[in-house]
Amino acid sequence: MFTLGIIIASDKGSKGERADESGIVIQQMMETNGYITKKYIILPDEADALSQEMIFMSDELGVDLILTSGGTGFSKRDITPEATLQVVHRLTPGISEAIRYNSLQITPRAMLSRAISGIRNNTLIINLPGSPKAVRESLEYILPSLAHGLEILK
Ligand code: MTE
Repeated sequence: MFTLGIIIASDKGSKGERADESGIVIQQMMETNGYITKKYIILPDEADALSQEMIFMSDELGVDLILTSGGTGFSKRDITPEATLQVVHRLTPGISEAIRYNSLQITPRAMLSRAISGIRNNTLIINLPGSPKAVRESLEYILPSLAHGLEILK
C-alpha cells in the first residue's frame, strides 16, 4: 500500500475557472490500484508554490509518490519541470522516457511534454502532462512497474 500526493498545476483550475478532470482521473486510477491519496491540491503555475507543496508532501506528509499534472508544455507559464528539478535529489529519467516513448506511439505531440521525474528522500515525484487523456495514457503505461520502484525506495 502506497501513499500519494496529487498536485494539479493550472492557473485556470486554481481560480475555479476550469473543472479539474485530470486530477479526478489520477485519483480514480491510483485508488483503483490500491494507492491512498493523502492530499490533492490545485495550484497556479508558479514555481515556488509548486516546489513548496512538493517539499511539504514529501517532508511533512511523507507520501511515497507525488504525481503532478500540467505545466509541462511550451506556454510561458509552464514551469512544473523546473519546480520539480528544484526539489529532487536524484533524477529518474527512465520513467519520463517511458511515458514519452509510449505516448509518442499515440501522438507525435508527446514530444512537446518537458515532463521530468525524480526522487526526494523516500518520495518519487513524477510530472504528467495536463490533459485527462494524456494522464490516463501515461499512468496506464507506468502503473504496472511503479510499485516495484516504490518498494525499493521505502
Ligand atoms: N501525452 C499523451 N500520452 N497524450 C497526449 O494527448 N499531449 C501532448 C503532450 N503529451 C499528449 C501527451 C501535448 S499536445 C502537449 S502540449 C504536452 O503533452 C504538454 O502538455 P501540458 O502543457 O498540459 O503539460
